[in-house]
Amino acid sequence: MSQTDLFSAQPPVPSPADLADAAAEQAAALRLQLHHHAHRYYVLDAPEIPDAEYDRLFQALQAIEAAHPALRTPDSPTQRVLGQVLDGFASVRHTVPMLSIRTETDTEPAGAVAFDARARRELGLGEEAPPLRYACELKFDGLAINLRYVDGVLVQAATRGDGESGEDVTQNIRTIGQIPLRLQQWQRGEVAGALPAVLEVRGEVYMRRGAFDRLNERQRERIARGDKGEKTFVNPRNAAAGAVRQHDPALAAERPLSFFAYGLGDVQGWALPATHSGVLDALDAFGLPVCAERAVVEGAGGLAAFHQRVGAQRDQLPFDIDGVVYKVDDLALQRQMGFVSREPRWAVAHKYPAQEQMTTVREIDIQVGRTGKLTPVAKLEPVFVGGTTVSNATLHNEDETRRKDVRAGDTVIVRRAGDVIPEVVGVVLERRPAEVGEPFDLYQRLGGHCPVCGSDIVREEGEADWRCTGGLFCPAQRKQALLHFAGRRAMDVEGLGDKVVEQLVDAGLVRTLPELYTLGVAKLAALDRMGERSAQNLVEALEKSRHTTLGRFLYALGIRHVGESTAKALARHFGGIDRLVDASVEQLTEVADVGPVVAQSLRTFFDQPHNREVVERLRAAGVDWPESDGVPSAEVLPLSGLTLVLTGTLPTLGRDAAKDLIEAAGGKVSGSVSKKTHYVVAGAEAGSKLEKAQSLGLSVLDEAGLLALLGGVAPQSATPDLT
Ligand code: IVH
Repeated sequence: MSQTDLFSAQPPVPSPADLADAAAEQAAALRLQLHHHAHRYYVLDAPEIPDAEYDRLFQALQAIEAAHPALRTPDSPTQRVLGQVLDGFASVRHTVPMLSIRTETDTEPAGAVAFDARARRELGLGEEAPPLRYACELKFDGLAINLRYVDGVLVQAATRGDGESGEDVTQNIRTIGQIPLRLQQWQRGEVAGALPAVLEVRGEVYMRRGAFDRLNERQRERIARGDKGEKTFVNPRNAAAGAVRQHDPALAAERPLSFFAYGLGDVQGWALPATHSGVLDALDAFGLPVCAERAVVEGAGGLAAFHQRVGAQRDQLPFDIDGVVYKVDDLALQRQMGFVSREPRWAVAHKYPAQEQMTTVREIDIQVGRTGKLTPVAKLEPVFVGGTTVSNATLHNEDETRRKDVRAGDTVIVRRAGDVIPEVVGVVLERRPAEVGEPFDLYQRLGGHCPVCGSDIVREEGEADWRCTGGLFCPAQRKQALLHFAGRRAMDVEGLGDKVVEQLVDAGLVRTLPELYTLGVAKLAALDRMGERSAQNLVEALEKSRHTTLGRFLYALGIRHVGESTAKALARHFGGIDRLVDASVEQLTEVADVGPVVAQSLRTFFDQPHNREVVERLRAAGVDWPESDGVPSAEVLPLSGLTLVLTGTLPTLGRDAAKDLIEAAGGKVSGSVSKKTHYVVAGAEAGSKLEKAQSLGLSVLDEAGLLALLGGVAPQSATPDLT
């Protein structure tokens, strides 16, 4: 082959114009792909490619645009954040005014019936006319925005303002990934695919609750670092509104906002669908986010059913709503109905009771919970929120109270969502009076003592809560303590349930555990729904419970961190109560299963003289158990140091009996299978635990295997031998 041949085989050298054409083509193709994947990711929440692949496409486009700046179009996905900081926002006059909507707080179905009747009257529909069709939507709790698309490209975004003119917030709105910079042109279903010359889309910018929580988390970190001028936000709506009106688009981009389209403004060069629901479908097909939680219903019944269905789901939605919106679906009928004083006659919003309200804190109280947990509670100026009048709201614990810096006299936002207990969301610092209480300090406030019983209060390291050490002595903890004491795996007093305990404590019949044993038939029979016969049975059950084991007794005392198996281990180790009561933290930690936290909890409990007194009085009341010298070394027991998991039904041993046997032999019974499990004891219909044991290659025993193990015989594993 000659040299000439070689050269002529080379492709012609491309001219600069050809190169630019190729780059333009490539950029256009990349843009199309990126628009498609952004829509899948942000709007549909169903990405088709991994983030890394998206980033790769994005960087490829960035590289082309860097080499050919002329190719950089405003609708390019690389151009969401345009770096200039603004001095202020220009005013935008709305081509079509942004109207408000009539809002009522109605109790359905009355509100639905009234709206339907009004609409029918205005349309002159007689009783014989068929039911009206309505488009039902959620009422999103954010701020209204008008998006103007010209030839499919987003050219302007404006706030509602006074309805006639708003502020130009285009730069910030462009940073919202869910809002397409260019409308999609594909067809879906019956929706016409042609792009309108002008399309104004109206909708709500809002912040999802998860995004809001993460944002506040980050803000708290910044404040903790000492960053100046940072603050947390009281609710998603405020955070969203703040972000939209941010002067630095880069900062706005840091606030994760979302958008739902719900209507139209100015439209040119596009044949409108016949119905509002058709408009929403078209917006969806253009690639705009439209909430899936919408419906077309008939008549008042349909409206009320939608209201009810949404109300029931409200707390599970990932974003805040404050009601539902009903709109006459037929656009021709909408036009016929028209407007009255800036509100359309064809739409109404029905609000749910607000879940957040502002009120003031009278003082901060501290309540004692059933395990002695001390909870700061804001005593409020009563306020109607979430459907009831609220005058107390939890502040959770000391750290939360300090973090929110809630003080007596403050104006706060109170939230009550669904059945959740009301809580203080945050302080409105702008309204803090000059005369405000001190920063919250729980220990100082209580002078170190439980407000109910005067016992010492403690906050252990790594714990969020202060606790009253009063235990059984503290009336606030008494009911729960009595129930625990009487429990089946504790003293096992049959017939001593919550209804009886409630009455015993409220009537002042039982103030301490030992008093249980002073109850006679006459006193008990006088209680509500307690005949002579049940009273007699209860007295007998109490009598029977006197003879117990040290392990059960220790567990029944309800000492923090002392569960059933720890109680048994302690009983085995010490053999008698006196040695245990006097044991030091070091001696306590010698017990297998007892770490420093448990040891300290035992010490704290027995250091309170009244707890010792309760033990003494119970013994005096006849509670007894066999004592021994204790087990000098746990190693002598066949199962000491071993953890077993029980699953399925064993042929003869009940679950409780098997557990008792294992623990008496020094073993521990755990509820879940892990690599640390030594044996899994499986009976009939064992399910996922057995599967997990097999997948981890653990030893699986049947009942016979367990009994052999308990007898000190090396067990035959029931695992099928696969070799
Ligand atoms: S329609 C002409 N639909 O509620 C009717 N508004 O005044 C225009 N809002 O600030 C409103 N969700 O931002 C409509 N699905 C929804 C809505 C909704 C929330 C807001 C809107 C406006 C206020 C109503």
